[in-house]
Amino acid sequence: MSSAPSASRPVPRPGVLAIEAYVPGKSGAPGAAKVHKLSSNETPLGPSPLAIEAMRQEAFRLALYPDGNSTRLREAIAFRYGLDPARIVCGAGSDELLSFLAYVYLAEGDEGIFTEHGFLVYRIAILAAGGVPVVVPERDLRADVDAILAAVTPRTKIVYLANPNNPTGTYLPFAEIRRLHAGLPPHVLLVLDGAYAEYVRTNDYSAGLELVLESENVVMTRTFSKIHGLAALRIGWMVGPPEVVDAVNRIRGPFNLSGSAIAAGAAAIADEAHVAAAVAHNETWLAWTSEVVSSLGLVVTPSVANFVLVHFPDEPGRSAAEADAYLAARGVIVRRVTSYGLPDALRVTIGSEEANQAFVAALTAFVKESIRA
Ligand SMILES: Cc1ncc(COP(=O)(O)O)c(C=O)c1O
Repeated sequence: MSSAPSASRPVPRPGVLAIEAYVPGKSGAPGAAKVHKLSSNETPLGPSPLAIEAMRQEAFRLALYPDGNSTRLREAIAFRYGLDPARIVCGAGSDELLSFLAYVYLAEGDEGIFTEHGFLVYRIAILAAGGVPVVVPERDLRADVDAILAAVTPRTKIVYLANPNNPTGTYLPFAEIRRLHAGLPPHVLLVLDGAYAEYVRTNDYSAGLELVLESENVVMTRTFSKIHGLAALRIGWMVGPPEVVDAVNRIRGPFNLSGSAIAAGAAAIADEAHVAAAVAHNETWLAWTSEVVSSLGLVVTPSVANFVLVHFPDEPGRSAAEADAYLAARGVIVRRVTSYGLPDALRVTIGSEEANQAFVAALTAFVKESIRA
């Protein structure tokens, strides 16, 4: 018999109450006639019509459990990327997979590393698994390989790196990812989160698939929530070494993806023309938005993703908080990023032409009024 001390009610295990629950981007602007939601990095193009149709067909099968192995979806992903479907695990969003990896590899007190302005789900996943989050400084809002390597201790078990990163929009060239991997001990799992990989247009970038396939300690996660426009369905996937895949499959729910998710995801990944249209749209409007906002005298962190980080002076009348309220009152919803350690910045998703124009018009008016005041 265990001699655990008695408590008057169930007590969460250590770490759980240290978690600050994830706060998603706002979705409404009370009082605004027309709302442009640029707060969650969703695609303005929506999903492929083929994905919508595939989901519709699933409506006739709602009484049946879905395929617990998401076979159709894993095969569609494998075909698209030239992979072995056995090396793929699907998740209810890539968030779920990021958590599974922490549960699998962190024992109580083990350390998980992520960077200063890294995606907040990493912290939640590490704490929820009983691990200790180790936050590594960035350099110029970009992950710093040397700082990550310097933070590794015998207790380090996992390193999460979003490439490109949210909310900064910056990235590490593949040579730097290789250098990071080369410096990590073999028992540390490197998780390359490629949620925005499809948007990147630079030649020195790779989401890291080749590194996954040639190593025993690298996993890449991807999502259908961004470029594929299926955020509401919650679909993510990961590819990794057979041993990692096996371990994750042991702890995931037996039917962790719905039938609708499996069908729509498989149709979406096969619609390469739809993805190409989203890439082209983003390329045009990312450049346009970055340029126009810079011309207003605001600093924009150069982004390779489908959003930009805009920096504001920490001065009354000109601050990020005031800009956020001003934009919201005009129906433009953007993301405050104080919880990411960036209280003076706003993250703005590249939206439809109409939404981008509305954002720039409202921001221009804000800047003019703040100068006059
Ligand atoms: C860097 C990064 N990783 C992962 C995710 C999670 O995506 P999902 O759980 O919708 O697949 C997001 C979503 O915002 C993200 O920005």
